[in-house]
Amino acid sequence: MQIAVVGSGYVGLVAGACFADLGHEVILVDNDQKKLDLLQRGEVPIHEKFLPELLGRHRGGRLRFSDDLKDATRRSSVIFVAVGTPPTESGEADLSFVESVAREISGAIDDYKVLVEKSTVPVYTSDWIRKIILRNGANPALFDVASNPEFLREGTAVCDFLFPDRIVIGCDTQRSADVLRQVYAPLTSASYYARTEAIPQPDGAVIPPPLIATSTKSAELIKHASNAFLAMKISFINAVASVCESVGADVNQVVHGIGTDSRIGPRFLNPGIGYGGSCFPKDVMAFRAVAREHGYDFSLLDAVVHINEEQRHRFLRKVRSALWTVRGKRLAVLGLAFKGGTDDIRESPALSIVQSLLQEGSCITAYDPAAMGRTREVLCETVNYASSPYEACHNADALLILTEWEEFANLDLTRLREELRYPIVIDGRNLYDPEIMAAQGFTYFSVGRSASHPDGVPAAVLRNDKKA
Ligand code: UDX
Repeated sequence: MQIAVVGSGYVGLVAGACFADLGHEVILVDNDQKKLDLLQRGEVPIHEKFLPELLGRHRGGRLRFSDDLKDATRRSSVIFVAVGTPPTESGEADLSFVESVAREISGAIDDYKVLVEKSTVPVYTSDWIRKIILRNGANPALFDVASNPEFLREGTAVCDFLFPDRIVIGCDTQRSADVLRQVYAPLTSASYYARTEAIPQPDGAVIPPPLIATSTKSAELIKHASNAFLAMKISFINAVASVCESVGADVNQVVHGIGTDSRIGPRFLNPGIGYGGSCFPKDVMAFRAVAREHGYDFSLLDAVVHINEEQRHRFLRKVRSALWTVRGKRLAVLGLAFKGGTDDIRESPALSIVQSLLQEGSCITAYDPAAMGRTREVLCETVNYASSPYEACHNADALLILTEWEEFANLDLTRLREELRYPIVIDGRNLYDPEIMAAQGFTYFSVGRSASHPDGVPAAVLRNDKKA
């Protein structure tokens, strides 16, 4: 099929490359000439596993780049809209990019086209897109608007796209549903998975993935409700972790106990410093706003946001209680990205904690396997950047772990202890076992578990000994 994907951000770029891998002819449209030049030169603007392979495989063949939306529309039978929907000050989604795409497309609808919302948009957006296209003179018989929400996660985006738990298509006509079924046929028929050059199947993949057909409005809601539910799951376990800290229980044991209930499930129950990224914070607020606009006060979502913000403050309080004062302290920070496996620092709780500590006068040396370049653009040289976790720890008063990178969970603890000035670790992602840390000579603080000290020696005594 001939497909246009409008917007080459995370979702658009991954979708475009994956559609090409499924065998479709794809035109990726963007109005940012710099980005198009970069893609045409063979560079990959985001840190995403398998994306360089897919772009290398299809660039100049089944995947082309263009800044001409009208031309791409004329050439395509399906147009996926994956442009940004940033939050406004009141938390609503700003749909002006979606609107301008709809306006521009309308003049190029010369035979039947399906316009598909791929960006996360509030319910009723499809109605508006339809109105805008009609207002601009398109023939109503020549197009349909559909919703096909994308559930990919950063870091595993290509695998999530090609091995989805489910594919949701929201269509109000049989004709548009048939077109979308055809787009995904290589996945739903499993023919893609039989190819030798297919991306390797991740553990637990459902093959073939189920396709769920709904109305357009239901599909729009499914995306917002999924993200809000996942954010709620994280805030719920973070709240439970706080109770664990107050009563001396262990949140890991609690998670194991509740996560083995098949109705709850073990995933997305990792307590930490809160969720971040370009989706959850924005989507929870947007869902809250759209519910309010339609007469429902979704106050549960306020609590989700409040708990999430509180997690950062709790962590900062832990740092202060471990170190007493933070002004002038040298702190090693591991992790700047909003989660492991990505270079994305948008709404990163790690970055927000670093900024607070800088304001309080600490001196920070940070290491992140992928996000230091992007952090430099924001924090410049207010932070020192190390070339390894051990270099970051050299002579530091304490180590703070802020992102759940896999490599941070397997550090050489003896070397770490030797590098640190004081063996104090404040772990915002629960990557280590408190008992092992104590046995290795660390004073160790984490989330939802009691602090542990070497041989039961209180941290304060240990610190004073060293200073003396
Ligand atoms: C999310 C959704 O998972 C995805 O379906 C949607 O399409 C886009 O938004 P993403 O933002 O890439 O994906 O990250 P995700 O892996 O969901 O993590 C979001 C945040 O929650 C991260 O900051 C992560 O550290 C945090 N998190 C996640 C937790 O704190 N605990 C968990 O158990 C899981």
